[in-house]
Amino acid sequence: MDDFFGLEGKAAIVVGGGLGIGESTSLYLARAGCDVAVVDIDAERAERVADKVRALGRKATAIVGDALDPAQAAWIIDKARADLGRLDKLVTIIGIAAFEPTLHMTQSPLRLLPCAAIRASSH
Ligand SMILES: NC(=O)c1ccc[n+]([C@@H]2O[C@H](COP(=O)([O-])OP(=O)(O)OC[C@H]3O[C@@H](n4cnc5c(N)ncnc54)[C@H](O)[C@@H]3O)[C@@H](O)[C@H]2O)c1
Repeated sequence: MDDFFGLEGKAAIVVGGGLGIGESTSLYLARAGCDVAVVDIDAERAERVADKVRALGRKATAIVGDALDPAQAAWIIDKARADLGRLDKLVTIIGIAAFEPTLHMTQSPLRLLPCAAIRASSH
């Protein structure tokens, strides 16, 4: 892959990187030349995707933690930077899916929907 996005040699952290959109993003970043810190609450998922990143020839670290917990988020960022030697990019794909009509929602999911993504990217 050419360096169209200027990602060659950069280091990225992907929050929720162990599955789905986060896994695909982690592997795209690796193909584009990034080292990747794969963050997930599920250890097996994080390790599996980190192995795939290494198989693409990039450095990877699997970090297990809950990015929505402020105390853990600070530690996660510090560990990613320490393990990869630098940190340039943050991608977070975690969010909340509420499967009910909007007018029937309680306050709780409505309050969390915008906050989850913002909090995860603001540490
Ligand atoms: N897949 C789709 O087609 C689609 C479409 C629209 C919106 N979305 C939204 O995008 C987001 C990602 O979708 P997906 O299909 O990739 O989800 P997914 O469930 O396949 O993957 C999410 C990953 O994030 C991890 N994760 C969840 N909370 C975390 C936390 N607090 N800290 C660290 N890791 C955490 C999970 O363990 C999981 O591995 C979801 O919010 C979803 O509602 C998905």
